[in-house]
Amino acid sequence: MAIRILVNGALGRMGLEVVQALQGNAKFDVVGTCGRNDDLSAAIKHSQADVVVDFTNANVVFDNSQKIIAAGARPVIGTSGLMPEQIEQLKSMAKAQHLGGIIAPNCSLGAVLMMKYATHWIKYFPEAEIIEMHHNEKLDAPSGTALRTAQVMSALRDKQPAAHPERLLVAGARGADVNGIHVHSIRLPGLVAHQEIIFGGMDETLRVRHDSIHRRCFMPGILLACEKVMGLTELVYGLEYIID
Ligand SMILES: NC(=O)c1ccc[n+]([C@@H]2O[C@H](COP(=O)([O-])OP(=O)(O)OC[C@H]3O[C@@H](n4cnc5c(N)ncnc54)[C@H](OP(=O)(O)O)[C@@H]3O)[C@@H](O)[C@H]2O)c1
Repeated sequence: MAIRILVNGALGRMGLEVVQALQGNAKFDVVGTCGRNDDLSAAIKHSQADVVVDFTNANVVFDNSQKIIAAGARPVIGTSGLMPEQIEQLKSMAKAQHLGGIIAPNCSLGAVLMMKYATHWIKYFPEAEIIEMHHNEKLDAPSGTALRTAQVMSALRDKQPAAHPERLLVAGARGADVNGIHVHSIRLPGLVAHQEIIFGGMDETLRVRHDSIHRRCFMPGILLACEKVMGLTELVYGLEYIID
């Protein structure tokens, strides 16, 4: 039987793509769509959705997530901007109802795989830096993905690199320091969303790079989340938890 999905934020850039991708796949049945002026709780009840996909905005995502869980549907939250304490609150809500859910701040399979596997190379190459490049309309820097990549890498690094003397001629020349990992943010027209990790070793470098060139790249990850969430009994953070 097809999984019943309601898409919230369905008229947005991501929402439109998500509806189209779901409608093109027989595993899913889009039973409802909501926008800013709709009553989300009533729509979930009326549609009897199994899963609600949310691509709205940072100001409303926490409220939406609470409504989805309270209505007994499984949330697949792609919207960015949930704060750590809000995520903990949502996890408790879902746990109390034995309800599965996924918060996926990056739905690109390539980006998630880079984070899941490449970040582990820091065990062998403790000196590494991240360069993230995005279009010039992106407000936040560094990107959420770069920030998370750096946090994962620093947590996995069991050996600190030797300190090198530095004399900065211009403040910020070495980028942002995220738990000892340097992150460089580039913002230019013509770019979409790109990230490179460079590992440096003795007389060798190892690089891994991911490029998103259209928001269609997020669709396989979102469809996978909509399928896998049906088998979860808790709210998980990051698509890496459902990718083998
Ligand atoms: N997880 C990922 O991989 C991934 C990838 C890309 C983007 N994102 C994130 O996804 C979110 C959406 O991005 P986007 O580019 O699609 O933005 P967008 O084009 O602005 O779309 C957001 C949509 O949500 C609607 N909306 C606003 N408040 C709402 C509410 N209370 N209830 C229901 N709908 C509401 C907006 O309506 P109005 O136009 O009337 O305001 C708009 O149609 C952002 O947070 C973005 O950072 C995540």
